[in-house]
Amino acid sequence: METPIAVLISGSGSNLQSIIDQAEAGTLPIRICCVIANKPDAFGLERARKHGIPAVCILSRGKTRAEHEKEIIAVLESHGVELVVLAGYMRQLSPVLLERFKGRVINIHPALLPSFPGTHGHEDAWNYGVKVSGCTVHFVDEGCDTGAIILQAVNPIEPGDTLETFKKRGLSIEHQALPEAIRLYCAGRLRIDGRRVIVAPDPVESTGGTRCIG
Ligand code: GRF
Repeated sequence: METPIAVLISGSGSNLQSIIDQAEAGTLPIRICCVIANKPDAFGLERARKHGIPAVCILSRGKTRAEHEKEIIAVLESHGVELVVLAGYMRQLSPVLLERFKGRVINIHPALLPSFPGTHGHEDAWNYGVKVSGCTVHFVDEGCDTGAIILQAVNPIEPGDTLETFKKRGLSIEHQALPEAIRLYCAGRLRIDGRRVIVAPDPVESTGGTRCIG
């Protein structure tokens, strides 16, 4: 069964593209009901339209977070969305949306949280001189990149790296990590236990390849 999801973006939407590609390839059991941007020039809107996905811009400028999110919720509800995926959505969410979609909003962050939260994860990690960075997919709470962690993937700094090569490789790692977290969610394998997300074993692997039914 396909899980109805919405993807919220603010920019390029390369993570959105990775979700679209995996869904179209049949490796992600989702239906992308809509893509919502808070900026009219977000390139991800074009990516969505190219694939026949309803794409709407709901401007955030000049609105309180509550006002803006009520408009978003109306669209999400009209599409029967179950899971909300933030993929480069650069606005912190308030309790208005988070209460309505409790435990059903996830975000990807381009650093190994809790290090380097905020809007410049790649740059902050690079400028700090870390030897290993990566990305984090987490449930969203009211803090800035503070929600319970679903999974992390590493991006070790390589000899000769520049900020550009480091970022490029980091982004391609994100393009695997976000669909993987969505896959786990859709399979019902995630349970939040305080700060920890418990990931249930893969039913196929844990039975030696025989899927359990019922
Ligand atoms: C990604 O690095 C993501 O982790 C961060 O914003 C960036 C969005 O990139 N939250 P894109 O729009 O998916 O290309």
